[in-house]
Order: sequence, then C-alpha cells, then structure tokens
Amino acid sequence: MTTPPAERLQAADDFAPGELETLQRLAVRSHEVIVQHQQPGGAYPASPTFSAYTGYAWFRDGAFTAEGISRCGDVASADAFHDWCAGVLAARRDHVTDLVRRAATGERPPLEDMLPTRYTYAGQPGSDAWWDFQTDGYGTWLWSVVTHAERHGLGLARWWAGIEVAVDYLAAFWDLPCYDWWEEHVEHRHVSTLGAISGGLRAVERTGLLDAARSRTAGEVVADIARLVSTDGTSGGHLTKWLGTDAVDGSLPSCVVPFGLAAPGSDLATRTLQAVAADLDVDGGVHRFRADVFYGGGQWLLLSALLGWNLAVAGDRAGALRHLRWIAARATATGELPEQVEDHLLHPEHRQEWLDRWGPVATPLLWSHGMYLILADELGLLDRLDLPTT
Ligand code: BGC
Repeated sequence: MTTPPAERLQAADDFAPGELETLQRLAVRSHEVIVQHQQPGGAYPASPTFSAYTGYAWFRDGAFTAEGISRCGDVASADAFHDWCAGVLAARRDHVTDLVRRAATGERPPLEDMLPTRYTYAGQPGSDAWWDFQTDGYGTWLWSVVTHAERHGLGLARWWAGIEVAVDYLAAFWDLPCYDWWEEHVEHRHVSTLGAISGGLRAVERTGLLDAARSRTAGEVVADIARLVSTDGTSGGHLTKWLGTDAVDGSLPSCVVPFGLAAPGSDLATRTLQAVAADLDVDGGVHRFRADVFYGGGQWLLLSALLGWNLAVAGDRAGALRHLRWIAARATATGELPEQVEDHLLHPEHRQEWLDRWGPVATPLLWSHGMYLILADELGLLDRLDLPTT
C-alpha cells in the first residue's frame, strides 16, 4: 500500500467540487461539538440541551463517542472519558461484588439494585426514574477502552479497576433479559446487547491481562453467547432483534463491526447487513425498527453511520459514502447533528405526542457526532486533517 490514504480517497471517489471539504469540515465540527460539551470530570453528555437527557451521560453513547474521538487522535479527551467510566465502576466495586454473591446463591436481585444505565456528570445515579437495567453499555465500554489503548499504545492500568468491575458484572448477569439499546422490552434478551457484551469481553480477553479465573469465565461467556445466538438469535440466515423473533433492528450491524459476534464477511454477517438495509434503510437513513413510534419513528443518523461503517469494512466504499453523505446533509446550519430526522417517519401519528412530552428532537446528539467521525475515519477522511486536540 504505497499511495497515501487521502490520495487514494480522492482518486477513487466521485466527489463533487468542494464536497470532500464539506464532509471534512463536518468532521472537524463534530470533534469540536463533542469536546465543547465534555464535562470537566470527563463525561460526554448524551445531548446537553435535550429535556430528558440534560445532566446525564450514558456508557453506550459515550463509548461510541470516545471511539470517534480516539480516531481523531484526541487522546486526552478519550482518556478523560475512560477515566470517568472507570471511576464510576471502581466506586461500585463492593456493590457489584455483593450482587455477584447474591446471584451465586440463586437470588435474582431486583432491577433497581442493578447498575444504572446513565449517570449524572458527577458519576451518580439519577434521581428520576429511567429504564435502568441495560447491560450493553458496559460491554461497549470495555471494547472502547481497549480499542483506544491499543490504537495509541497506552497501558490499561489506570482503567483496570473499572474494567474488572465491568467484567465481573457482565459475567454474572449477561444472560438476564434487560432493556435494549433503545431502552425498551425488558422482557427480552436482545442480540445487540449480547453482541456488545461478547465484543467487550473478547476485547479485554485479547489484552492477556485478565487473571486466570476471570479469563476462563470471560471465555465461557463468549462461547455461551455464540451458542445461544446461533440457536435462538437467528432467522432466515440473519441475526434477529431479540431471541426468538424474526424481526431485525438497526443496531444489529454492531454485532458484525465492531463486536464480531458474526464474523465480518461470513454469510451470517452479510445476510444481517442485507436484512437491516432491506427493512430499515430509506434513502441512506436508517430506522431503529419497524414498530418504532418514538418521535414518529424517524431515521437515526448514528445507525446510518453504523451500517456505513460495516459497508466500508466489507469493501463497499460507495455504499458507505452514501450513508456519510446522507448524514452530512442532515446537519443543522451550525453543524450540529440530531438524534433522528423526520424525512421519513414509520408512524407519523406518534410524532406530536413526543414533541409535547419532551420537546424537539435531541440536537446535538454527541453519539451522532461520534459515529460520523468513525465512518469518516473508516473512509479515510480524517487522514491529514489537522484536528485540534484537547
Ligand atoms: C435512546 C438510547 C440513548 C439515549 C441517550 C434514548 O432515546 O433510545 O439509545 O442511549 O436516548 O442518547
């Protein structure tokens, strides 16, 4: 590979005059939006001004956002986020040890005893009710922190206490039904949640730093997830939204890239990407799932980026660029990316009730910006961009 990436990019891709610069400017702006809102303690707010999210940071959103930031070369910002996560978890060492002990005696701890999904910027559980038992974010964080450390040649010691807490928690509770990426359906076991747990445990496992007992347990859980999903989490040759259905979900591409539950290039991976695209991609914008009524069920920018990321890794540059362009065309005049747009609504009759309840759609959503950065990087657009670091 002798041609520098930026030249390969421009030779191979059919950009209109000025288009590449516009796409790159949005990458610069995305970095700026994320670090502008990062809290002094390291937390990335999900959406600083959105009524229902103000004051909170999610492990799921933040872990993907940190991956985008890490790809920008802003090591300090990603480090600070991982410091925050590791601190949140390390402070819950005794609590998780107790939960694991109770589970080992056959007790099923009530949901309100489990770790929350989102925390205040100070790392505390919120005071208002939330759909709070979701395990995927802890797996996604493990994948994110290890990937960041590997990319920049960093040691994991400063995050290790938190990493062990996450591993212990996931090893004990991975197989429980819980709320999904969309904070819904606590009665089901969700394939994308299992994918995130598997991807996180595999990432930690490959560091070779887990002690023998944790390493054995992590390996067993990864194998159990693979077995369970292959029997109950597939239909028609593709992964499914939860165990025992044939529906798909826009989060499922994550089970291919980055989490590797379905090996990239395998039939299962290819058919999963095809099924998600066939069911949920409209003009490059990807819906969460067919029955989605949240704000009328619009198209989510971060899911377009996730599918695009997968296409880029699978070698479909044109397909990936189609998603990048679609996202970029949804930026506001000030270069902010929303959570979802209403260009195509699955259930328009439900939009107003959400506007009345929570106000306009979350904008900016830092996760949207983080995913834009990931896809832009995957396509080589961040090469030679001089991004200021924090
Ligand atoms: C989404 C979650 C997300 C949260 C914060 C919710 O509406 O369903 O996936 O983590 O917002 O952005």
